[in-house]
Amino acid sequence: MPELTWWQRGVIYQVYPRSFQDSNGDGIGDLAGVGARLEYLAALGVDAVWISPIYPSPMADFGYDVADYCNIDPIFGTLDDFQQLLDRAHALGLKVLLDFVPNHSSERHAWFEESRSSRDNPKRDWYLWRDPAPDGGPPNNWLSRMGGSAWQWDAHTGQYYYHAFLREQPDLNWRNPEVRRAMDEVLRFWLARGVDGFRVDVLWLLIKDAQFRDNPPNPAFTPGEPEHHRLLQTYTEDQPEVHEIVRSMRATLDEYGERVLIGEIYLPVPQLMRYYGASGDGANMPFNFQLLNAAWNAAGIGRIICDYDRALPEHAWPNWVLGNHDNPRVASRLGAAQARVAAVLLLTLRGTPTLYYGDEIGMTDSAIAPEQVRDPAELRQPGIGQGRDPERTPMQWDSSLPNAGFTSGRPWLPVNSTTSVASQSDDASSMLSLHRRLLSIRRSYAALVDGSIEHVTANGNVLTYERRSGTQRLLIALNMSAADAAVYLPPGIVLLSTIPGRDSGPITEGVDCLAGGEALIVRLG
Ligand code: NOJ
Repeated sequence: MPELTWWQRGVIYQVYPRSFQDSNGDGIGDLAGVGARLEYLAALGVDAVWISPIYPSPMADFGYDVADYCNIDPIFGTLDDFQQLLDRAHALGLKVLLDFVPNHSSERHAWFEESRSSRDNPKRDWYLWRDPAPDGGPPNNWLSRMGGSAWQWDAHTGQYYYHAFLREQPDLNWRNPEVRRAMDEVLRFWLARGVDGFRVDVLWLLIKDAQFRDNPPNPAFTPGEPEHHRLLQTYTEDQPEVHEIVRSMRATLDEYGERVLIGEIYLPVPQLMRYYGASGDGANMPFNFQLLNAAWNAAGIGRIICDYDRALPEHAWPNWVLGNHDNPRVASRLGAAQARVAAVLLLTLRGTPTLYYGDEIGMTDSAIAPEQVRDPAELRQPGIGQGRDPERTPMQWDSSLPNAGFTSGRPWLPVNSTTSVASQSDDASSMLSLHRRLLSIRRSYAALVDGSIEHVTANGNVLTYERRSGTQRLLIALNMSAADAAVYLPPGIVLLSTIPGRDSGPITEGVDCLAGGEALIVRLG
């Protein structure tokens, strides 16, 4: 087995910077705040910090509308603050990944301001401009992922522009070589400063059909779903030409040594696999989001693990994601007990885990009152469960009132202060202690990092699998229900149980009983 690189051995931790730690009392997290919490992250035992966008932005989509790709928004700090954060992280042995948002810019980006200024502006073709349909309406039926037509009329130049998300987020034209060069320079700007890699926003959306054909209707659409689900995304996502772009991003990163390219891609596994590149020259890790909405049962999760492992091209490195800023939190999806089981799963599967901030203390989705809603996805498509504020509330650091140590000011989203890092720190049975132990076991047992995954077996509500490296063998047993369950265990030593108080130590071969919500790591042999 070739020596693994840091992003294969490591655990990634996602920071949503608005919500992590405020240092100046404006109620919004910032880079100085992240910097002040780096020791916490290093002690937790993660290896890399991915920071969601921190670039200058009108914040229509909270930073995913970038007005300048090579600077820092004053809300978050300055380029100097970023450099300090990066240096400090590196000194602590932590890598730092940025969010690269190439599919669309803000409408306030200088490129778009030029592009919309006239039809013959040199940057006109940097975005997707089309004439109206004969009836004056949008050029085709493409729908925005934030509701309504994806085409916005521009009266000044008499054309429509395309936006996959908000109209404040015009899509760039990745068929234009100048756009590609400009974006390549953006990557180099940050790589030269020492950034360790990128999570690339909506990588599978970069290229659209050259003929702008109508998307076909989705026969499986059911009312109540987001509006864009009415159509299959045949001509607006996963176009074959995208792979060439991924390859060229990867080639740029490779010039800078061991950096990592991660793609945000929501696609079924067979299509997802293509983003590794035909010869492993694509994304290092196309995010594997299957655990975000999988039905939580042993047989189903077992199947996901096996099918994914089988589908991986040779040399492709797996990865697993349990939460992020666009999806309900794991503790709310599964409940507190099964969130502990899920933590064991995430941190013992084969591949790089990505952990969402706050999940390590079991943060739950917060109830957001109508007047507190901030997310444009909720504001523009109310009431259909698209809002992402609940999973973006401030990190809960301590029991100080009213804002749990996040800010001395008024937080941009309400703080849900039912639990905190401080309250869990000295409690051996807490979610935080469970994560610390899991991360420490990962560091101590090579089988969890470079080992194979074998014997994935679902038996009733119990999922078991083995991780193996050389002579080291670990058995993982997960009771994915609230009821006790019998499991056959070979002789070994229990390294960890999610049930507080269960003795660790030797077990003899035979049928054992897993309590409801119990997960075990057993060292075999
Ligand atoms: C995916 C990001 O994760 C999400 O938060 C954002 O709204 C869209 N891309 C648009 O950039």
